[in-house]
Amino acid sequence: MDLNSLEAKIAEVKQAFEKDAKTLPLDQLRSRYLGRDGKVRELFALLKELPADQKGPAGKMLNDFKEYLEKQCGELAPTEVHRPVEAVDLTLPGRGREPGRRHPIHKVYDEIVRVFTKLGFDVVTGPEIETEANNFEALNIPLEHPSRDAFDTFYIERPYLLRSHTSPVQIRTMKARKPPIRVIAPGKVFRPDKPDAGHSPMFHQIEGLMVGPDVTFAKLKGVLDLFVKAMWGPGTRTRFRPSFFPFTEPSAEVDVSCFLCGARGCPVCKQSGWVEILGSGMVHPKVLENCGIDAEENTGFAFGMGVERITMLKYGIPDIRRFYENHFAFLRQF
Ligand code: PHE
Repeated sequence: MDLNSLEAKIAEVKQAFEKDAKTLPLDQLRSRYLGRDGKVRELFALLKELPADQKGPAGKMLNDFKEYLEKQCGELAPTEVHRPVEAVDLTLPGRGREPGRRHPIHKVYDEIVRVFTKLGFDVVTGPEIETEANNFEALNIPLEHPSRDAFDTFYIERPYLLRSHTSPVQIRTMKARKPPIRVIAPGKVFRPDKPDAGHSPMFHQIEGLMVGPDVTFAKLKGVLDLFVKAMWGPGTRTRFRPSFFPFTEPSAEVDVSCFLCGARGCPVCKQSGWVEILGSGMVHPKVLENCGIDAEENTGFAFGMGVERITMLKYGIPDIRRFYENHFAFLRQF
């Protein structure tokens, strides 16, 4: 044994160490090389076989190597898993990535839009931040109307507010287009309601508007009748109840025969056999004129429905808040 062959042995052990460092857990690596019966100790045992004059440099060489190994082991974080390659279980299932799906609100919204586009309605949109003029004045909603109260509307800085319904899109459309007009306007609306099972400060509406020389209440009934039959089946009936909106005259709330119980009476229709789905009416002549449309030549109808409400009724969802909580258990069902 001489200095050169010791150097070669050290190089051999170093190579083996570097290979093992990639696969062995740290504690095993340490004990194999630096442990009581480890490789370093074996190397030190060779010292006695060396000629006396080489023992000094040989000892330095061995100490340097030991230091190197200790440094290497110290740099491997103890928490790091130096798992032997053989321990990887290739048969384990991969991490699944669920396919995305449409939100129930969006699903119903698409369905409603599809029915009206088939009937020749264009889809138009308006901004969620509106002016008081479009949200109220042009729609013939007087200053003293309760919906203009700060308890019923999110004001930003006058004259801006978060639209409280999609009806201002009627105004924007009638100002931008000439009759005949046939549009639906889906979108978000905002009201400062405390969230509960039936209320949310943000929800979705779909507005409908048809204006032309021959638009009658009979056409409103016909269009809505086609709509409810497309949504809930050919046996569905409609019921128009007299109502009031400042921007329509006459006005009506529309009910559909309860699709759950076939109008026999159940908790959804509160035993009445009917479920309210929207507000509607003939566009008030003042509203037409506010938009520069000749009210002698033209008439119009309009309606507005809440998408959440229709979705809740369609799927029997008892609480509007479910839509916005993003719980997979809920969303996966659609
Ligand atoms: N904008 C009314 C609401 O939010 C609904 C409506 C729209 C009524 C169009 C009549 C005509 O309650």
